[in-house]
Amino acid sequence: MKNWITNRELMKSHFDAPKFLEEKSDQDRGVNPPPVESRILPDAVEIALPEHDSVKAIKPGLANCILDRVSRRKYTTGSITLEELSFLLWATQGVKKTINAYKNRGTVTFRTVPSAGARHPFETYLAINRVTGVKPGIYRYSALRHSLIFLFQENNIGEKLTTAAAGQSFTGEAPVVFFWACRPYMGEWRYKGESHKAMLLDAGHVCQNLYLAAESLQLGTVAIAAYSQSKVDDLLHLDGVDEFVVYLAPVGRVKETR
Ligand SMILES: Cc1cc2nc3c(=O)[nH]c(=O)nc-3n(C[C@H](O)[C@H](O)[C@H](O)COP(=O)(O)O)c2cc1C
Repeated sequence: MKNWITNRELMKSHFDAPKFLEEKSDQDRGVNPPPVESRILPDAVEIALPEHDSVKAIKPGLANCILDRVSRRKYTTGSITLEELSFLLWATQGVKKTINAYKNRGTVTFRTVPSAGARHPFETYLAINRVTGVKPGIYRYSALRHSLIFLFQENNIGEKLTTAAAGQSFTGEAPVVFFWACRPYMGEWRYKGESHKAMLLDAGHVCQNLYLAAESLQLGTVAIAAYSQSKVDDLLHLDGVDEFVVYLAPVGRVKETR
């Protein structure tokens, strides 16, 4: 089992510790930063997403969305539309501005969510079950291109999702499941051992935007941190070392609104 006391150190900030200040980061050493997002294979099947504002919020007003937000675990058997999915992806990881050769940091993106040092260490994977016009399977979101990259098909995906989510069956029943996989070197390159706390904090912002964006479309979601690490990473074909899931969230229709 994990050592509780040792783990508490991860929750603290050590940015002014002499050890941290003395150690050079890869950025300090002039090592090239990792790419902003994973490579897209030349023969990949890519689905362009509609503009993020091609769907209108059903529930207007940020205050209403904040007030009404709850974790929703019961979904109808309905599908969600590509326009809705596009809005949710934009709200969680959408790129607003890209700067090439930003200071000595290479390409840096500024997005709809904050991220320590604008490192944005996540890839968003999607298990798509019922999105109108999209073949079920595992996809990756390209935030730079605002598109979906088809990765592979998976048989019995609902069953596998439930198992990977430690038996939380609403995950397997959802039309789409969001997975935020961390590429830890994105943060480590700049913040060394202090990056890990920051990257976990980053994930919270991403998921909160999903909650609020879903609420505005009268869709439902729930944050999930109680999952099987190896089963989730295996399902997405992640190596579990340089890339692994830190958070996931099923999204579904909670009322027949469309
Ligand atoms: C970090 C985190 C992890 C969570 N993990 C799970 C989970 O694995 N399964 C689940 O059903 N809910 C999970 N939740 C949702 C919480 O249970 C929920 O937010 C809490 O009960 C408060 O309810 P509310 O979101 O409706 O206000 C998680 C929430 C957070 C923020």
